[in-house]
Amino acid sequence: MMFSRVACNAARRVPSAGRMISSSAAARAPAVLPDLTYDYGELEPAISGEIMKIHHTKHHQAYINNLNAAMEKLADAEAKGDVTAILQLQAAIKFNGGGHLNHSIFWKNLAPVGKGGGEMVTGTLADMIEAQYHSMGELTEKMSAASVGVQGSGWGWLGYDKVNKRLAIATCANQDPLEATTGLVPLLGIDVWEHAYYLQYKNVRPDYVKSIFKVVNWADVQERLTAATS
Ligand SMILES: [Fe+2]
Repeated sequence: MMFSRVACNAARRVPSAGRMISSSAAARAPAVLPDLTYDYGELEPAISGEIMKIHHTKHHQAYINNLNAAMEKLADAEAKGDVTAILQLQAAIKFNGGGHLNHSIFWKNLAPVGKGGGEMVTGTLADMIEAQYHSMGELTEKMSAASVGVQGSGWGWLGYDKVNKRLAIATCANQDPLEATTGLVPLLGIDVWEHAYYLQYKNVRPDYVKSIFKVVNWADVQERLTAATS
């Protein structure tokens, strides 16, 4: 009896913390900065090349670096069963993970004029906008008002409400990710952090938001809607 119990315990031996960390870390590929599909200067004059370069290589990269650091600490805390440390990391993961997700969507939501930027596409997106907002003008007006009205730093969103099968305009504070915090599937995001516009528009957020619509990649927004509804 005694022998078999020892053997059984040996068979169930818990891996050392170090092995668990490496195994967990291996399972989680670190986040990496996505390439843009256009040059930094191609969104001018709507958004300057200087803003785009800093926004992409400095701000987005910082969210990624901080997310990866937090995820490494999380793997360590999980391996140790340190629930307090796990809980302490949640805010950093939400903020930096949200920053990574939001910006990854934002870059694809944009396109240079002449390469799809500002060009509405036919399809279910246009049909739903027409049915719910009566015109593109009304949609952009309402989304602009919501985005301009964000207090402090945050995002304006056009999302898809899967429950009610409708488009929805929403705002999020800081880097709160839309779907994780509201349930809406993100279709089009407008970054209204000052780092997204201050070098060019100073404090005039409404002018920046107005310009953004000149470079919205509506084909990408339609693709996201198609994915959300299929
Ligand atoms: Fe940003």
